[in-house]
Amino acid sequence: MSNIITMIAPVNIAVIKYWGKRNEELILPLNDSVSVTLNANVMCAKTTVCVSPNFLEDEIWLNGAKESFTNQRLQNCLKEIKSRAAVERSVDDIFLTWKVHICSENNFPTAAGLASSAAGYACLVSALAKAYKIKSDVSSIARLGSGSACRSVYGGFVRWHAGVESDGSDSIAVQIANKSHWPEMSALILVVGDTQKKISSSKGMKLSVETSDLFQFRVQNCVPKRVEEICKAITTKDFVKFAEITMKDSNQFHAICLDSYPPITYMTDTSYKIIEMIHKYNNIHPKIKIAYTFDAGPNACLYLLEEEVPKILSLIQHIFPTSTPDKFITGLPIQHEKIDTDLI
Ligand code: DP6
Repeated sequence: MSNIITMIAPVNIAVIKYWGKRNEELILPLNDSVSVTLNANVMCAKTTVCVSPNFLEDEIWLNGAKESFTNQRLQNCLKEIKSRAAVERSVDDIFLTWKVHICSENNFPTAAGLASSAAGYACLVSALAKAYKIKSDVSSIARLGSGSACRSVYGGFVRWHAGVESDGSDSIAVQIANKSHWPEMSALILVVGDTQKKISSSKGMKLSVETSDLFQFRVQNCVPKRVEEICKAITTKDFVKFAEITMKDSNQFHAICLDSYPPITYMTDTSYKIIEMIHKYNNIHPKIKIAYTFDAGPNACLYLLEEEVPKILSLIQHIFPTSTPDKFITGLPIQHEKIDTDLI
């Protein structure tokens, strides 16, 4: 009688950052963002959902520990799934009254600025959508769990359109190009620290909206142009342009964090050392070879073309001699991955 679905979903790392909401409950952003979805074999969330008439309560386990189901974002996702199922008449009415059990785990540190909520909610919502046989766009449901999750619903290169509607109906993710469009594109995650961030992305972006003067300037004057330019760079496979915009946007995002009051600092000395290393490397070449980007944490995501990967790995070992070929600084593995993720 019961319906069990298991899915995996990959992490995505933004090259134009989402930072700031116009609606906290519906998770509607103030700007468009663009990301690359990484290989699910290396960093992913795995979620099993089971809907059964035998369950007495909705229940959830995250990374092996039972959590409260009262989390508002989780409730919003399940509510939206059920109301879509009712509208689409995809399952029998009785199925909508059954309780659900959810079990989810990540194979990488949670809440250390490695997009764990993005993979987590994309996976959860995709699994629920399959269990409830939803046919319509699920990115807008994943968005209700965590904004950046809507982009993990697609593989390859993805744009999240902020939208203009107050109900969020046009705030959806769209694939710009699939994984096979630019097969040489690779990513390296340099794990600098795996402790939980001091201030969550949600709280951090709220503080920036409320207190940073630079924030408005970014949203109005910088992001719209950058989004168009990076989408074009992706379509035309212009790595130099792609890399330049990626680095500038990461730097601007962290400048806004610092311009917030009180200031927010996500990067550490090691993060800045990585930035310095990349610029030095790029400067000795006629063209930019590698880009860095940092989310709300100290870990770096490097984007580079495949031919550069062995050179960069040996450079990292040279600059950070405490690392071994498969370790970096804190002893966590360097995750070398090629972007080839089709979703789920
Ligand atoms: C810095 O999606 O985690 O990673 O919508 O409040 O859950 P909520 O925030 P979240 O923010 C991600 C911020 C970022 C940039 C990005 O991924 O675009």
